[in-house]
Amino acid sequence: MSDLPDYRLDVIALDDPYPFYRRLRDEDPAHYSRAEDLWVLTRYEDCHAAFNDWRTWSSFGRGNLINDLPDRIGKTLGTSDPPRHTFARSLVNRAFTPRTVARLESTIRKLARELASKAAERGTIEFASEISAPFNAGILGAMFGLPDGEFLRLRRWLDDFFLRDKPEPGRESRQAIAMRELHGYLGALAAEHIDHPTDDLMSAMIDAEQDGQKLDQEQVVVTTMTFLTAGFESTNNCFTNLTYALALHPELLDVVRQHPDRISDFIEEGIRWDAPAQGFVRSPTSDVELHGKTIPAGAQVVLHIGAANRDERRFSDPNRFELDRDDRHHVGFGQGVHFCVGAPLARTMAQVIFEELLAVSRRWEVDLVDAQRVTTPNFRGFARLPLTIR
Ligand code: HEM
Repeated sequence: MSDLPDYRLDVIALDDPYPFYRRLRDEDPAHYSRAEDLWVLTRYEDCHAAFNDWRTWSSFGRGNLINDLPDRIGKTLGTSDPPRHTFARSLVNRAFTPRTVARLESTIRKLARELASKAAERGTIEFASEISAPFNAGILGAMFGLPDGEFLRLRRWLDDFFLRDKPEPGRESRQAIAMRELHGYLGALAAEHIDHPTDDLMSAMIDAEQDGQKLDQEQVVVTTMTFLTAGFESTNNCFTNLTYALALHPELLDVVRQHPDRISDFIEEGIRWDAPAQGFVRSPTSDVELHGKTIPAGAQVVLHIGAANRDERRFSDPNRFELDRDDRHHVGFGQGVHFCVGAPLARTMAQVIFEELLAVSRRWEVDLVDAQRVTTPNFRGFARLPLTIR
């Protein structure tokens, strides 16, 4: 009889959940958690195959976030299956092109340089609120044509969006309130864009057309919402995890300081090594037999990216942070039809902010005593991370 503990969602926020993930991969790769009433797949091969097989592993059945609200399911990119997803995704791809990212590059550089220079003056900063939040807010705001500073007002909604709070009977959850208010705000913004088109991403989504069909206003609103929520939360977790990884590996710090062209390798390995998005949900459309178990149709199944990216069956010496790793095929940005739309933007943003910060830093020390991890069930990173760079 195995003494393997039940998987619990809060394991994601542990300092080191990786030994437990290893036990799951080895001892119970198709694990049913009684505590959470969900299944967890932890091996790379299983997660990779499931991400690629949307016919069996639906994003529509239970949504793709662990705490998805029933209202959202079927409306957003991440919670729909082909052919509905194919149509919306191809229009989003038309609006959000490499040119969109290229056009944002000067804004990204300017903002990163300003934030890095302020950080250098101060010496010690709180990375999440003083670098990551204003950086992400500024860039996502610029993408959607929000006036300067406006995006930070949306922050409360974005923070609440990923909560998993259980309200008193008869009351709305903070998550539901955030979603409703954000929806109202973006609805008004979309209406304004329809009357007065600009050259931002929202206008591009309104204009994009395929075979005579366009996204309707509601689709534009919910897609924008996915962009903002996905873009804000995962990038914060990515940047804070990378900051922490650098502090843990002083030998890496020397390399990326002396060779800024290695920063992209550092980012890619960092996303494999400590995945910001730890898991996304799928739901089987029929019973699935796996590793001697039957996962019933309709179950909630987490494809555990964080565990898959450390699978020794796929990656040699997976717990080692290896800048020269040949195998870059991690599933940190997902895989298949739902592969992250924002990956090129996230990579560019990470590259630029670390280039600028490393250029002005003399030290790189995090204060773990005063740090705080995020506690949303899908993501791993820091809500608070004091960093000393000078
Ligand atoms: C390092 C940062 C990021 C990580 C680790 C990340 C990770 C992911 C992952 C794993 C998925 C797949 C979800 C699934 O299969 O259910 C995804 C999808 C998505 N991401 Fe990202 N993401 C990041 C940044 C961004 C940014 C900056 C944006 C937008 C500006 C964005 C927008 C999206 C959208 C819209 C989807 C849904 C795509 C679809 O379902 O077709 N992401 N992301």
